[in-house]
Amino acid sequence: MEPPTALGLRAKARCDQLGEAPYSEADDHLVRRFLTAAHRAALDALSGWMEAAGMGVHIDPAANLIGRYEGRKAGAPALVIGSHIDTVRNGGRYDGALGVMLGLECVEALSAAGIRLSFAIEVIAFGDEEGSRFPSSMVCSRALAGVVDEQVLTMADGDGVTLAQALIEFGLPADDLTGAAREADTVLAFLEAHIEQGPVLEAEDLPIGVVSAIAAQERLKVRFSGTAGHAGTTPMSLRRDPGPAAAEAILAVERLCAGGEDGLVGTVGRIEALPGAYNVIPGSVTLTLDVRAETEAARDDAVAEIATALEAIAQQRGLELDIQLMQSLPASPCDPTLTALLSNAVRQIGVTPRKLASGAGHDAMVMAGLCPTAMLFIRCAGGISHNPAESVKPEDVAIAARAMLAFIANLETRQNAWEAERGE
Ligand code: HGY
Ligand code: MN
Ligand code: MN
Repeated sequence: MEPPTALGLRAKARCDQLGEAPYSEADDHLVRRFLTAAHRAALDALSGWMEAAGMGVHIDPAANLIGRYEGRKAGAPALVIGSHIDTVRNGGRYDGALGVMLGLECVEALSAAGIRLSFAIEVIAFGDEEGSRFPSSMVCSRALAGVVDEQVLTMADGDGVTLAQALIEFGLPADDLTGAAREADTVLAFLEAHIEQGPVLEAEDLPIGVVSAIAAQERLKVRFSGTAGHAGTTPMSLRRDPGPAAAEAILAVERLCAGGEDGLVGTVGRIEALPGAYNVIPGSVTLTLDVRAETEAARDDAVAEIATALEAIAQQRGLELDIQLMQSLPASPCDPTLTALLSNAVRQIGVTPRKLASGAGHDAMVMAGLCPTAMLFIRCAGGISHNPAESVKPEDVAIAARAMLAFIANLETRQNAWEAERGE
């Protein structure tokens, strides 16, 4: 077993450091939501590490932290290496953060060796990928890719604070998300390293894998509405109680997604009965629904079937039903040429390049609208993620760093060959 090298140990240690207050909003578990003090503290730490690695650092209008390591010629297009720095509530330390730290390690290694490339390298920490504070996700990479809808500024978090207000409190202009948009000719490619969040690499005893495509996903808000009432005086036969309807709805999602064709999965992650008291029959029950599949067609078919089942439940129980689409993300194939360069890099460092699809969403699916993308997966124990038990081995992280540096070398070789062909 290869001993963990400094590359792997430091990247993991930095994720561990950011796993606790003040880089978490809570003292007893990790939660770092977009534009919170914990987010700001994490950006302060990352800025210091980026500057120490020889990068120029700035924060764009969407709170993306961007560290830039210039190429041989100033202002050259950049290979962007990045991932998200926000977390889910009670999340793990490596989901997102590890990809940022590995980007840092790559620049640190190049800078220490005095290597300058035909392209710049930018390490980016996206502040919102999880959507753990505001209803829709990936605001930061969507702003950078120039595809964010200004409507998101009016989205409110659980405390009623809008994204516009949160940007102002963070010290950023509230109405300038579009100012973060990058011109396509400033970005050469995007590389994201991320824990697999699944069991495949561990089952096949592989430290890293190459991502072929990212699943299509939709987030919906479902609300059953009935009649709130007194829990003690209202006979069962006279109720319009949305609670049992919600229970039937959750079972319908499980039943309709059970086949799992095309990687189909359906999840009800949050259930909220209002007004939420022991002795009150709820007036409404709201569910969050997350549906994913390897193709849009399979995803859309499943969403349609689920909606039909929910309508039948509401009708049968005499309830109102409201289904609101909160976000729809298309499936995103990784760029075949870059993926070949990455697979060669994995092979060059002595690992079999295992291709696998990603059921989890990533900023790479948004960046694919701006530039060619490639993704590298890192084994995580038990495939566990979105859970404090999430963990990685330093030696796997070191192998990932070496694969990324080999990818960068392959990209440089390709760019130099293209420049020679063009007689530059
Ligand atoms: O939901 C996802 O797939 C990602 O963790 N945001
Ligand atoms: Mn996640
Ligand atoms: Mn993630």
